[in-house]
Amino acid sequence: MKLIIINGPNLNLLGKRETDVYGDQSFQDFFTKLQFKHKTIELEQFQSNIEGELIDKLQEVGYSYDGIILNAAAYTHTSVGIGDAVKAIETPVVEVHISNTFSREDFRHKSYISPNAKGIVLGFGLQSYELALQSFLTNEQ
Ligand code: DQA
Repeated sequence: MKLIIINGPNLNLLGKRETDVYGDQSFQDFFTKLQFKHKTIELEQFQSNIEGELIDKLQEVGYSYDGIILNAAAYTHTSVGIGDAVKAIETPVVEVHISNTFSREDFRHKSYISPNAKGIVLGFGLQSYELALQSFLTNEQ
């Protein structure tokens, strides 16, 4: 089972950024623990602040990996291009958000990813990523 977590803009600042909303753990710390817990999965991560790089990565992995866990961050709410990429590729995408975007500003209620996502996990802090990962394991059985 080969999975990748793809993170969008500003998620490289987790642990330092708006800690009241996103928590005080860095993504690298969280990811190292996640890999340790799920040793049987080939688990990778990729982060970019650049919309086109996120699209390039979706295209690169989207025909060979078993699953993509995508937190497109602010681009979730603005990017037709990332939405189209999710629609184009074959690998299933689970959309993830750390915060409950529906309890926040109105502009965060719109997602260009959701219509073509296999499922959505949001509002559980960094645990949202692990719940998304588990959804791929459950479907394997
Ligand atoms: C986020 C929610 C987005 O609205 C925001 O722009 C982010 C992070 C989340 O994980 O809660 O950067 O995707």
